[in-house]
Amino acid sequence: MAEGVFITVEGADGCGKTTQLNLLAEYLEQKGYKVLVTREPGGAELGIELRKILLHYDGFVSSKCESFLFLADRAQHVDTVIRPAIKEGKIVLCDRYTDSTVAYQGYGKGVDISRINYLNNLATDSLLPDLTLVFDVDSEVAQQRVGAQKDRLEAEGLDFHKKVRFGYLQIAKSEPERVKVVDANKNIESVFDAAKKVINDFLN
Ligand code: TYD
Repeated sequence: MAEGVFITVEGADGCGKTTQLNLLAEYLEQKGYKVLVTREPGGAELGIELRKILLHYDGFVSSKCESFLFLADRAQHVDTVIRPAIKEGKIVLCDRYTDSTVAYQGYGKGVDISRINYLNNLATDSLLPDLTLVFDVDSEVAQQRVGAQKDRLEAEGLDFHKKVRFGYLQIAKSEPERVKVVDANKNIESVFDAAKKVINDFLN
């Protein structure tokens, strides 16, 4: 593989995507691929500081400010982590990326989506994932999985998370080639089987 591949995993809080991402990384490594697992926010060193503010700052954060913080994190992450790894021929598996900002700040919080798209392109120099898996789960089930210990965004409540879920499904509808929806209501094994199939179809 000369150039690498960029794959993102997405979904509302509690959808189980991080578990699936780790299983997929292990699976791809066993197949002989070089894999880099990373995440947003906080995939680059500077981003670790931004992540603390984004998830745990307890004062008021406007939706616009929040969007810019996620985008700042993303710009640094793309330049210092994602692009170099793609150049090295790795499969980059990234936990959340541009679609999170569209789903959470756009659909969830009402920031204008065309502006978010514009800013996502600016932050990433238009680097789009080659493939995106959206783990789709019933919002009530997802909220139960998150449990009582919630960070700033997880604490937004059921209505917000329903909007986020709807947002992801809209994104998948508008970009069916790139974005594949995986039914994440089932048990870990079945979801993993479905996710593997999507990845194998893509790599083949
Ligand atoms: P994290 O602990 O990584 O959650 P998860 O394991 O569910 O991915 O926290 C990331 C939180 O930030 C999550 O609630 C989604 C939110 N988020 C946005 O609102 N916009 C964004 O652009 C990104 C990348 C994340």
